[in-house]
Amino acid sequence: MNGNFTYCNPTKLYFGEDSLNSLNTELPKYGRNVVLIYGGGSIKKNGIYEEVVSILKKNGKEVAEISGVMPNPTLAKLYEGVEIARNHQADFILAVGGGSVCDYAKAVSVSVHCEDDPWQKYYVRFEEPECETIPVGCVLTMVGTGSEMNAGSVITNQETKQKIGHVFADEAIMPKFSILNPRYTMTLPHYQMVSGIYDIFNHICEQYFSGEDDNTSDYISEGLMRSLLHSSRIANENPQDYEARSNIMWTATWALNTLVAKGKTTDWMVHMLGQAVGGYTNATHGMTLAAVSLPYYRYILPYGLAKFKRFAVNVWDVDPEGKDDRQVAEEGLAAMENWMKELGLVMNIRELGADEAMIEGIADVTLAMPGGYKVLDREEIVQILRESLV
Ligand code: NZQ
Ligand code: ZN
Repeated sequence: MNGNFTYCNPTKLYFGEDSLNSLNTELPKYGRNVVLIYGGGSIKKNGIYEEVVSILKKNGKEVAEISGVMPNPTLAKLYEGVEIARNHQADFILAVGGGSVCDYAKAVSVSVHCEDDPWQKYYVRFEEPECETIPVGCVLTMVGTGSEMNAGSVITNQETKQKIGHVFADEAIMPKFSILNPRYTMTLPHYQMVSGIYDIFNHICEQYFSGEDDNTSDYISEGLMRSLLHSSRIANENPQDYEARSNIMWTATWALNTLVAKGKTTDWMVHMLGQAVGGYTNATHGMTLAAVSLPYYRYILPYGLAKFKRFAVNVWDVDPEGKDDRQVAEEGLAAMENWMKELGLVMNIRELGADEAMIEGIADVTLAMPGGYKVLDREEIVQILRESLV
């Protein structure tokens, strides 16, 4: 394992069909004033809202609500939520929803007692909170981001068309607990389910495609990817398959709770490209990643050939017999492409609302991250974005 590292993940997880009961164990640990945060209404349609509210009442909580948190939550919505949480003198925040709701809850948590403008402080200057933060708990209803067990928070500034994620260094920003009931994910539309599946897969790739050392994290990643491929095919055919949906949910959490990043430099370039596309188009997160991935990976393949070959053999079962390394590696990406098409993922950014006229602007807001096999220059970013249009 390369480097020196610390591993600490303080989020307590409650998993399974009965896991919501654990709210009764957790709520008494926090003060009376709770802010309940949720999205555009799916939790009211599928009954989760009723269940959560009745547990909050039973525990004697005073509840204020922030509803209508949109996918890719905006800065304007953050300002609105901070006001509500301040007026309610919030002791605790309960997020019920997907990554957007959970990310947003963390953003509110660090902003309520902060005197600075949160966008400038956290998403432009990437500073850590110096103020008191409000503890967050999460009831997850959409699987993909890993936000339930990490300190990430992504906010979109619609005025500047910037979608920026801050991974807080302070573990106190991670949810204190997360409740993962795979049944809750069963009402997700197919589009969201497969988008989340690709988000999970890509989180693992971003950590796996870096470094050349023999690293335990890579073996864990390969296992997670194999499990995800297996379960995704079952869930794609039968979304009501509990076993598959529960495995996908658990894989998502481990894909981005910092474990498989240990000892790795990591390469977040697909996320940087996808987020830049998202800032311009407001497209679904996982689909933005799917649409830019293959042009990116095909471009960097020669720079990380040994790892791409290993990926082909260990994840996609490509038989290396009688083939050169390049051929094996390319067959791995071809197998990945077939799987992506099988799931029905969006394979180009045009379908997500991008066009030629946006390419330069998207490139302007794409951060070129180090850590992978090649640091992209501006021309290369433009080239990959153009290839993603087709
Ligand atoms: O708003 P509602 O009505 O609840 O509908 C949501 C939303 O439209 C719907 N949904 C959620 N659970 C449902 C459901 N519909 C039916 N039944 C259910 N059980 O799904 C839609 C998408 O929800 P959203 O929370 O936006 O999806 P996701 O979990 O993919 O989160 C995306 C956000 O997370 C950020 C993304 O950039 C994006 O802003 N990310 C956060 C990360 C982190 N914290 O580490 C890392 C990721 O890479 C990602 O960037
Ligand atoms: Zn992601």
